[in-house]
Amino acid sequence: MQKLFFGNIKMNQTPSETQNYLKILIDKTKTAKSKIGIAFPYTNLNIANELCKNSNILVGAQNVSAEDSGSFTGEISSKMLAESGVKFCIVGHSERRKLFGENNAIINKKIKRLMQVNIISVVCVGETKIERDANKTKVVLKKQIEECLQGLFENELKNIVIAYEPVWAIGTGETPTTKQVELALQHITQIVHSSFSTTVNPSLIYGGSINESNIKFFISAKACSGVLVGGSSLDPIKFAKISSI
Ligand code: PGA
Repeated sequence: MQKLFFGNIKMNQTPSETQNYLKILIDKTKTAKSKIGIAFPYTNLNIANELCKNSNILVGAQNVSAEDSGSFTGEISSKMLAESGVKFCIVGHSERRKLFGENNAIINKKIKRLMQVNIISVVCVGETKIERDANKTKVVLKKQIEECLQGLFENELKNIVIAYEPVWAIGTGETPTTKQVELALQHITQIVHSSFSTTVNPSLIYGGSINESNIKFFISAKACSGVLVGGSSLDPIKFAKISSI
């Protein structure tokens, strides 16, 4: 199966910087066999879509409003994203949970908004260092997944990618072992199967301090369909290398 390589630009790049970035990335990934998607800041979506039209790069967003429309100053709706050509959206990233107070109930609403317009949700879950040390990884993942996916229909799970992103591995240079990733993904599969049926298998990916040297350990992990890359996706040459593994 085609592996997924998602990049998260976070709050970096102006539209003209995205233009330069994509010129390089599109060129370097022309013959890529994997599925590549980059989540840009809202202001860069138009230029990104324009440039990616005839490439194999999917354009994504990093957030979406939980509301449909109306008096929500500063928010961007799922319909707006869909009309801008967005194909996937990151939801529940640990930075949004920690810095902007997003909880599982809000994330669940956002996923449902994205479902209405057929945008793939890349749902981030993962434990903090304190939770891991207290042996709570499984409990944390169970609560996050059950609450984030609550009320979804089984056939909607095809539009869900679950990104296992241990919070302690994001932007720290610290990573779990391949075995730890495999165990977490195995556990996520069990949670999904107990909430839905055993025939439902959303794509599972790993994210946290991925670079050109360690990508091979994660992409080869059992049940791992791909990766979500932050820092190392900011350099188009590095990211092209990562996604060509
Ligand atoms: P990182 O970020 O690759 O810089 O650790 C991952 C993420 O934020 O998804």
